[in-house]
Amino acid sequence: MGPRISRLDQDGVAAVARNGSPRRSSDEERRKSAEEKVNGHAHAHREDNPKFDIPHHLKGIPRLEVQHYLMRFLYQGNFSSPIQETLNAGNARVLDLGCGAGTWAIEVAKEFPSAQVIGVDITNFFPSDVTTPNVKFILHNFQERKRLPFDDNAFDFVHMRFLLADVKEEDYQNTLIPELVRVTKPNGWIELLEFDVQHYSEGPVIRRLTNSLSKHLQSKGYNPKISEKLPHYLKQTNNVDKILQFDKAIPLGHWAGRVGDLAIEDLSILFLDSKELPQSMGVTDEEYQNLVSEYKEEVEERRTFFRTHRFFTKKISKINPEKS
Ligand SMILES: C[S@@+](CC[C@H](N)C(=O)[O-])C[C@H]1O[C@@H](n2cnc3c(N)ncnc32)[C@H](O)[C@@H]1O
Repeated sequence: MGPRISRLDQDGVAAVARNGSPRRSSDEERRKSAEEKVNGHAHAHREDNPKFDIPHHLKGIPRLEVQHYLMRFLYQGNFSSPIQETLNAGNARVLDLGCGAGTWAIEVAKEFPSAQVIGVDITNFFPSDVTTPNVKFILHNFQERKRLPFDDNAFDFVHMRFLLADVKEEDYQNTLIPELVRVTKPNGWIELLEFDVQHYSEGPVIRRLTNSLSKHLQSKGYNPKISEKLPHYLKQTNNVDKILQFDKAIPLGHWAGRVGDLAIEDLSILFLDSKELPQSMGVTDEEYQNLVSEYKEEVEERRTFFRTHRFFTKKISKINPEKS
């Protein structure tokens, strides 16, 4: 049997059909509440904000965008860092690394019209019809160049989400995390969101698929549990304050209502889109598709879920003298 879902995680599941009144809190309150919830031991009651509801009509919307709405709903917001006042103060700069279709960047730009938001990605998935004037997208391969195309201390807020299967562990450690700390201003915030490949409440098919995916990723240098290492790599820069963490379990399947429906749709597309996995498992495409169908049945029987982790921390304002 897998571990139990914590109360905060269950909120994420149970709150699907619930509407609460918008909650406003100052950055100081957000910071205090975040600090009380350090390291995922959060059991605070949460009120849902309708602003973060999952839109009703998602048919035909690309997978990454659906995933964005799921995360925004489960975490009740696009970020947890106490950075609202800075973003409202005027001329704040925000960076989203590996921004994909740019949904997060556009939403943050709309919410904070006086901030400048930059999305960076290797692929031009950027929407062509963006009317939000304070968002801009830059094509850049940060793995090839090993350096982000920005000056030191350039951003008030740096965000990065779901790069586990795109960035090798050694690059996270040696390049990407140090780079994103470098480009953050002292007292600016860095926020990362990652998922784990491992599922909980697994059956044999789920175990086979997720173990195979983990092995496949590992064989290419990716860490299917990079979330366990991210706080360590952030600390290794010697340039960040205490690392705060929220964890959310994502239920898979109809048993968990709309969130579960969207999440299993998302993960089954992720599995079906994987061209390399059937080969590395040594199964035919047809056998593989059958496995994914069985996976979808098994998550209903077992009430399966997987975990995501949000880390956020402030860059310290003085250069640490121990840093070489
Ligand atoms: C799983 S998607 C996540 C997208 C986005 N962060 C989100 O949450 O919707 C990973 C993104 O990282 C981008 N990416 C992968 N390798 C990259 C690289 N070397 N440089 C820049 N972007 C990269 C991919 O193109 C893709 O858009």
